[in-house]
Amino acid sequence: MRDTDADWRLWGEADPYFGVLAHDRYRRANLTDDALSEFWASGVKDAAEFAGVLERFFGDFPKASALDFGCGVGRLSRGMARLCDQVTGLDVSPGMLAEAAVGAPANTTFVHALDEGQTFDWINSIIVFQHIPPERGYEILDGLLQRVNFGGAISLHFTVAGPEGSADGPVGAMMMFAYDLSRIARMLAARDIRLTLMQHTDHGGYEGVIVYGRRRRLTAA
Ligand SMILES: C[S@@+](CC[C@H](N)C(=O)[O-])C[C@H]1O[C@@H](n2cnc3c(N)ncnc32)[C@H](O)[C@@H]1O
Repeated sequence: MRDTDADWRLWGEADPYFGVLAHDRYRRANLTDDALSEFWASGVKDAAEFAGVLERFFGDFPKASALDFGCGVGRLSRGMARLCDQVTGLDVSPGMLAEAAVGAPANTTFVHALDEGQTFDWINSIIVFQHIPPERGYEILDGLLQRVNFGGAISLHFTVAGPEGSADGPVGAMMMFAYDLSRIARMLAARDIRLTLMQHTDHGGYEGVIVYGRRRRLTAA
């Protein structure tokens, strides 16, 4: 299986903002104050949109704690921090995490691993699983689903179809992988997330979905 973590360690060192959003204006060499403001504003807007969809379709959900899995430099974590009491950003790339910590809001923490038993009211992950080989990604996904509090919410993005790519480009190649939605649906159901909403996404021909849902509340016996 390709070691995609090595690719992301490289992106974190070499060009973290472009690694997050692959537009030329976010390349290290081109990064102006305006481009940076636009970058952070996109995270505020997107996080508000994801929370808004969740609330519209699933009702108000608790927001004491949130996890941004594959947080990169904290683009969405910062947006989530406006909505939640505490936000944890998790990433595999030390360079990304170092950048994320610079000037971050006080209610954010950036980590490379979670504490045992740490759970969250909202778990978000956008444009991350598509870069992880699915056989590993499904395991990570199940671990995350076990960390959703009862009554808590998810917004998780998966690419499901796109141009075939080679799985053995040079280190630093941005690998893309498609996931099997029926397998994901079964995994969600097994963790008490049975009512979900899918939002179609298209990133330059890579089609995917953001899966929204809430973990069923435990009812008194
Ligand atoms: C395209 S960036 C997206 C960052 C962020 N979600 C956003 O939308 O701003 C993908 C991020 O996923 C991280 N990532 C890739 N594989 C990961 C893994 N196995 N565990 C945690 N993070 C991972 C990368 O290091 C990178 O920061």
